Amino acid sequence: MKKTSINLLILFAFLCIFGCNKKENQSKTQAQPMENIQVSDYGVTSKGDSIKKYTLTNKNGMKLEVINFGGIITSLTAPDKKGKYEDVVLGFTKPEDYFNGNPYYFGALIGRYGNRIANAKFTLDGKSYDIDKNDGPNSLHGGKEGFHTKFWNIEPLKDTKFPTLKLTYTSADGEEGYPGKLTTTVFYTLTDDNALEISYEAETDKPAVVNLTQHSYFNLSGNFSKTILDHELQINADKFLPVNETLIPTGEQKAVKGSPFDFTVSKPIGKDINADDDQLKKGKGYDHNWILNGSGLRSIAKVYHPESGRVMEVLTDEPGVQFYSGNFLDGKFDAKTGGKNELRTGLCLETQHFPDSPNQPNFPSTELKPGQKYHSKTIYKFSVKK
Ligand code: BGC
Repeated sequence: MKKTSINLLILFAFLCIFGCNKKENQSKTQAQPMENIQVSDYGVTSKGDSIKKYTLTNKNGMKLEVINFGGIITSLTAPDKKGKYEDVVLGFTKPEDYFNGNPYYFGALIGRYGNRIANAKFTLDGKSYDIDKNDGPNSLHGGKEGFHTKFWNIEPLKDTKFPTLKLTYTSADGEEGYPGKLTTTVFYTLTDDNALEISYEAETDKPAVVNLTQHSYFNLSGNFSKTILDHELQINADKFLPVNETLIPTGEQKAVKGSPFDFTVSKPIGKDINADDDQLKKGKGYDHNWILNGSGLRSIAKVYHPESGRVMEVLTDEPGVQFYSGNFLDGKFDAKTGGKNELRTGLCLETQHFPDSPNQPNFPSTELKPGQKYHSKTIYKFSVKK
């Protein structure tokens, strides 16, 4: 072989090796989007804990902000029909309002039990438990010191396709009156198709009850001083759970057909909200659990804001969703976009098992036994309709 051919061969081999390495590095970078997770100081609690904020960004520039207090989502942006990304979740303007009570549960992880347990007590395996009574006679969202007030350990994950945070919190046996040491892990992932995926896992060392959810309030207009009454909502549910005066399900599973609770076909939230209806009066609007059609991870609801064109689709593997139309927002706090967080300026779609299940044998069980693993998944996916 001529010297030039040998040189060419060497050059070719070199280029090939270099090229392959480059490809390998590229796929590694794609699998490690750590540059898509920024950490910054957020504030200091009255106990002196310094709180961090994690900002996740996807390839479109959509952003999710989470703090390690309460696993709270403080901001989430989504595009409108012109491609403008704006914050679509309600929140406080001052960090201390999250730390000192968060009366509306803005953006928080809810545990151990999403929604109410009647008379703040239940019986499990023949033993009765008194849990924190923080809502009239009942217990709401895990009690006063529920998971929304806890310091969560946050780890930004490496080697994931999309930016992901792993949040963990261990709740001691007896915390807020609940039995069993409960280890909870929550993953927040921001995908490139503009979806926020939330996966929950939990394990216990004693029989326990668990019902985890996320309490973000959405307002797709991007202006938190406007109400959500013009948002159009569709829920894939033929039945809902009527409640008593203290918002505990009566046990009846009622057909939505022909009532203001019928969202099987998309309609503006404001259309029937003030109808002369006993259940709407009890809830001061919508504050009920819809019994979702089907099972497994499926599309269960869609919210559409005509003016901005924003659409939010909700998928879950849970049997129920609490649609809460922000009836207790009372204008006491400044809204992030100016004005105040007034009545019905945000809506929640809290995917969950049914309220008060530990006291209602006909509802799907919320018991978790040692050796079992609690799993639940919910996706909030954003798009536009032009
Ligand atoms: C409940 C409401 C409650 C609200 C607290 C919702 O999940 O259904 O009744 O007032 O949480 O902000």
